[in-house]
Amino acid sequence: MSTFKVSRIETRPFDGQKPGTSGLRKKVKVFAQTHYLQNFVQATFNALTCDKIKGNTLVVSGDGRYYSKDAIQIIIKMSAANGVRRVWVGQNGLLSTPAVSAVIRERVGTDGSKASGAFILTASHNPGGPTEDFGIKYNMENGGPAPEGVTDKIYENTTTIKEYLIAENLPDVDISKIGSTNFSGPEGEFEVEVFDSTDTYVNLMKSIFDFEAIKKLLACPKFTFCYDSLHGVAGVYAKRIFIEELGANESSLLNCTPKEDFGGGHPDPNLTYAKELVQRMGLGKNSEVEPPEFGGAADGDADRNMILGKRFFVTPSDSVAIIAANAVEAIPYFSDGLKGVARSMPTSAALDVVAEALNLKFFEVPTGWKFFGNLMDAGLCSVCGEESFGTGSDHVREKDGIWAVLAWLSILAQKNKEKLNGEKLVTVEDIVRQHWSTYGRHYYTRYDYENVDAGGAKELMAHLVNLQSDLPQVNKIVKEANSAVSNVIKGDEFEYKDSVDGSVSKHQGIRYFFEDGSRLVFRLSGTGSEGATIRVYIEQYEKDSSKTGRDSQEALKPLVEAALRLSKMQEFTGRSEPTVIT
Ligand code: G1P
Ligand code: ZN
Repeated sequence: MSTFKVSRIETRPFDGQKPGTSGLRKKVKVFAQTHYLQNFVQATFNALTCDKIKGNTLVVSGDGRYYSKDAIQIIIKMSAANGVRRVWVGQNGLLSTPAVSAVIRERVGTDGSKASGAFILTASHNPGGPTEDFGIKYNMENGGPAPEGVTDKIYENTTTIKEYLIAENLPDVDISKIGSTNFSGPEGEFEVEVFDSTDTYVNLMKSIFDFEAIKKLLACPKFTFCYDSLHGVAGVYAKRIFIEELGANESSLLNCTPKEDFGGGHPDPNLTYAKELVQRMGLGKNSEVEPPEFGGAADGDADRNMILGKRFFVTPSDSVAIIAANAVEAIPYFSDGLKGVARSMPTSAALDVVAEALNLKFFEVPTGWKFFGNLMDAGLCSVCGEESFGTGSDHVREKDGIWAVLAWLSILAQKNKEKLNGEKLVTVEDIVRQHWSTYGRHYYTRYDYENVDAGGAKELMAHLVNLQSDLPQVNKIVKEANSAVSNVIKGDEFEYKDSVDGSVSKHQGIRYFFEDGSRLVFRLSGTGSEGATIRVYIEQYEKDSSKTGRDSQEALKPLVEAALRLSKMQEFTGRSEPTVIT
């Protein structure tokens, strides 16, 4: 057993190590500066109480993006020096974000040990590679992202840090081979265990869903399936679950080999970036081959999902509402009923309508998954989602891309169980249209203005807040933009008081409510790594089932015009078009 020494390395603070909506994300060249990652890791250790570190087990892994392998070796050496007892690493450093959450919650080491937290190495849906983004975030014992109290402390520590601890002479560990390596240090033994990236997660999925039912659906010749991992970590899970466990054909998988640079693509599962899948599903131009019945995609770290039917897009806001409406019947894990449901504020109110109809507890929380965690820990929420392609449940404390696909496959399996011998199948589109006719439809779109000047973005937001005190003026502007929109009856800034721990989160987005139930929301992204990103969320409710079949961009045009005029988008940002429309 090789022995290591602990070195104390002198360092100085770096500016801007403030974790955003989901950890610290910067360009690789920023992270690769001497001491940069080390400072953040030490600041995290120092923010956690000793009993969470000393003698404990930590998980370190991520989506496999460029710089992950270097980062893993650094974190292993710093963990050893800080008195951690064991580090668990997914084979090749790969674990999806929801799988990390599952590993923290479920995995038991051979000696009965459990993990007390994890460093997740990912910048989620941001591109990867030497000139792109890297990211790191810390998850706690419950499997969820560190709460604001902890991330604030981490940030504070980064501003005063003077030294970090590292076991410099600890040899690099081969993370490509499953097995344990033991070392001996000043505080005793230290172990690095490399384990299978999929086992814990797959077992959890098998305990939630009826795999036999899904297998039957996938075996039905009329049901065709396609899944795109966009070269992110989801590929590892897709191969194991869809091919090995559920019997889907290899040709059903697109881009399922994880790559450090995601094949040069933008690993975000939406209609703009998941081009190949969109084309295959018949939503692109000139698609001639008959598209599959079902399509799914994931982002880099596999916590996001996109759900498509044949030539049909399911909005994430509808997706969570439909999953909630069907969960008890279609998913064994929920057969005793849902404890409650929740959505992030900018997500459409489709879920609200289901909650009301089914008499379920309902919560509206700020953007970012961490707010759902408290509700789940308190047993108040079973299913939740965000408009930004995030859907999940209380099986882990992260959103879960593959879970969402399995949830949809379960709903399809349940609706089609009597039809698998050749009858016409109930399609994704049928399910969504049926849902609209029962609950009404929330037309919904989001406009993103990426990488705009931070000063201009701030001014735009300040302008929108100021405007709220003068509703007559607001109404004058929106009517000038388009006389078809209804009256604005209220404007505010969303503020959230956590009903479980009482913490208050302010400035969570600027909202304008209209008389007919429409809504505009404006907020600044907390996950970008350059400049500012303004997001505009546009929503309109239609109860009349004869009017729920319109094209959504067409239906929302008047409201979009009102949003652009109200915010003086072009004036403040110089942009006449958004970078992404979803
Ligand atoms: C974005 C999404 C948000 C999601 C987060 C992490 O954050 O809008 O819903 O939780 O990514 O995936 P934003 O950039 O808007 O702060
Ligand atoms: Zn992600």
